[in-house]
Amino acid sequence: MLIAPSILAADFAALGAEVEAVDRAGADWIHLDVMDGHFVPNLTFGPDTVRALRPHSKKPFDVHLMISHPLSYVGAFLDAGADCVSFHIEADDDAQEVIDRIHQAGRRAGLAIKPATPVEAVVPYLGQLDFVLVMTVEPGFGGQAFRAEQLEKVRALKALSPALPIEIDGGVNEQTAPAAKAAGVDICVAGSSVFRAADYAQAIAVLK
Ligand code: DX5
Ligand code: ZN
Repeated sequence: MLIAPSILAADFAALGAEVEAVDRAGADWIHLDVMDGHFVPNLTFGPDTVRALRPHSKKPFDVHLMISHPLSYVGAFLDAGADCVSFHIEADDDAQEVIDRIHQAGRRAGLAIKPATPVEAVVPYLGQLDFVLVMTVEPGFGGQAFRAEQLEKVRALKALSPALPIEIDGGVNEQTAPAAKAAGVDICVAGSSVFRAADYAQAIAVLK
């Protein structure tokens, strides 16, 4: 199972050093949460921050767009150095167009799905996606409790498309990761459980 620490829980005054620290600590991907204050009731950062962080790690940058208009901004995040881009099926833009933009840039495309959305919403796109991001909390904030019932979506997706990597995001920690693994999750995002730990390497090793 790959671990993607989310810098949402990092020290924002030292983001470059935090990215280097989780890279050294064994992160597989670096997860960057982009929020627009509209799709979710919170704001984070944009493509300039992704570009500024890019030289601090060679690990894949996994950019999670929690924004209403991914089509307007996806190009800027690709230019900034995103390797994997996920956006929400609940966003306002045409999912096919966003997937195509990501693939035209030669990067990996993921569709993210909120807890209240049925898994059927992403099924028409499975054949073209590089991964699916199943939210195990309501998007917008770190530090929330894991919603174990969302693992049902992981099982359903694995039954439909066994080789398609599934990422989960929200509430992943030492207690919740085993159930995720058993459900077939391939990539776990982890914010608080890594960045609130005294030893990032130990926190990542424990999740693995
Ligand atoms: C939530 C974000 C998550 C968040 C996870 O909207 O998408 O990536 O950082 O944080 P934890 O691991 O603290 O639940
Ligand atoms: Zn995220």
